[in-house]
Amino acid sequence: EELFRVAVIGSGNWGSVAAKLIASNTVKQSMFHDEVRMWVFEETLPNGRKLSETINQENENVKYLPGIKLGSNVVADPDLLNSVKEANMLVFVTPHQFVEGICKRLVGNIRPDAEAISLIKGMEVKTEGPCMISKLISEMLSVNCCVLMGANIANEIAVEKFSEATIGYRQDKEAAQRWARLFSTPYFLVSAVPDVEGVELCGTLKNVVAIAAGLVDGLDMGNNTKAAIMRIGLREMKAFSKLLFSSVKDSTFFESCGVADLITTCLGGRNRRVAEAFARSGGKRSFDELETELLQGQKLQGVSTAKEVFEVLRNRGWQSLFPLFTTVHEISIGLLPPTAIVEYSEHARNLN
Ligand code: NAD
Ligand code: 13P
Repeated sequence: EELFRVAVIGSGNWGSVAAKLIASNTVKQSMFHDEVRMWVFEETLPNGRKLSETINQENENVKYLPGIKLGSNVVADPDLLNSVKEANMLVFVTPHQFVEGICKRLVGNIRPDAEAISLIKGMEVKTEGPCMISKLISEMLSVNCCVLMGANIANEIAVEKFSEATIGYRQDKEAAQRWARLFSTPYFLVSAVPDVEGVELCGTLKNVVAIAAGLVDGLDMGNNTKAAIMRIGLREMKAFSKLLFSSVKDSTFFESCGVADLITTCLGGRNRRVAEAFARSGGKRSFDELETELLQGQKLQGVSTAKEVFEVLRNRGWQSLFPLFTTVHEISIGLLPPTAIVEYSEHARNLN
C-alpha cells in the first residue's frame, strides 16, 4: 500500500517545531514515508548564505529555531511547488497574511488525493464576510482541511516539554485520526473534536486577548487585572464564535485550544511581549516597529486579527457587544491610549 507523504508549508518558529515533531513520527510509523519536505520562504542570512541551504547543512533552522536539530529526515525546499508535488498530507503553518498568496500558487499543483491541516491562527475578512483560514485552504484547493490548535508556545515544544493540542475536524474522523497519529508524541498529546470552527476561532481570537494582556503588563497593573482581562476576553471569544457559527460547542473552550492556549499566550507569547513594549512606550512606538525590533522576522498575528475582528463587528453592528476586542483595535491604531484597556468597562457601559 502507498505510504502517506508529508509536506510542511512554512518554516518559521512553529513551522520548524511542527516539522521536527512530524519527522520524529514518520521515521517510527510505517504508514508514513520517512522524509518530511519543509517549504522555506527563502532569504539570505547576514553571512550571505541561503536559509534553506543552511537548514539542510546544519539540520537546524538557524534563524527561526536556533539550537534545535530538526531530524535528518527533514528536507528544506525553497521551491513551493516542488515541496508539495509528491505529498498527500499538507501541513499549513505560515503567518495568516501569506496563506492566500501561497494557495493561489498551489492551485492545480497539488495531488488530487491531498488532505490538509492548518496550524495557522488567524482569519481573512472578505467583502462577503469573515473567512477562516482552513476554509480558505479547503475552498481554494478543493481539499479537506482540519485544524490543529492548542497551548503550544513553539520554543517549549522544541525542547520536548509536555503540552496538549486539539484537532478540529468537520466530518472526516478518519483523516483527523491520521493527523493525530502524525503529531502525537509522549510529550505532545493530541485529541480531536468535531468542531473545526470552534477550535480555529479559539486559536485566532486568543491572540487579540493576548495583546490586551500585554498592555496590562506594560501598565504594571498586576495579576488581578490580567486575570480579569483574560476572563472578559474568553467570554468575548465564546460569544463571537457562536454568533459567527451557531455550531460552535461550549466544550471546545475547555480543550487545549481554548482556555489553555489563552493562558499560555497571555503569560508567555509574542503578542503579549510586543504589546507590553507598546504600552511601555506610551503608545508612541508602533506595533510594526516593535515587531521588527523584538521578533527578528517572526510575525505577530494579534494586531491584524484585532483589525479583522473589528471589521466584522463594524459590518454587523456588533461593536457594543465586544468592548475588549473593539478597544484592542482602537489602541493598536493609536485612536485610544494604552490605558484605555482598563477603562474599557466604562466604555462598555456607555455603549450598552
Ligand atoms: P514566525 O512568525 O516564526 O515566522 C514568520 C515566517 O513567515 C517565516 O518563516 C518567514 O520566512 C515567513 N515569511 C515572511 N514573509 C513571507 C512571505 N511574504 N510569504 C511567505 N512567508 C513569509 O512563524 P510561526 O511561528 O511558524 O507562525 C506560523 C503560524 O503558527 C501563525 O499563525 C502563528 O500564530 C501560529 N503559531 C505559532 C506558535 C509559536 O509559538 N510560534 C504557536 C502556535 C501557533
Ligand atoms: P504568540 O504568537 O503570541 O507567541 O502565541 C503563540 C501561540 O499561539 C501559543 O499557542
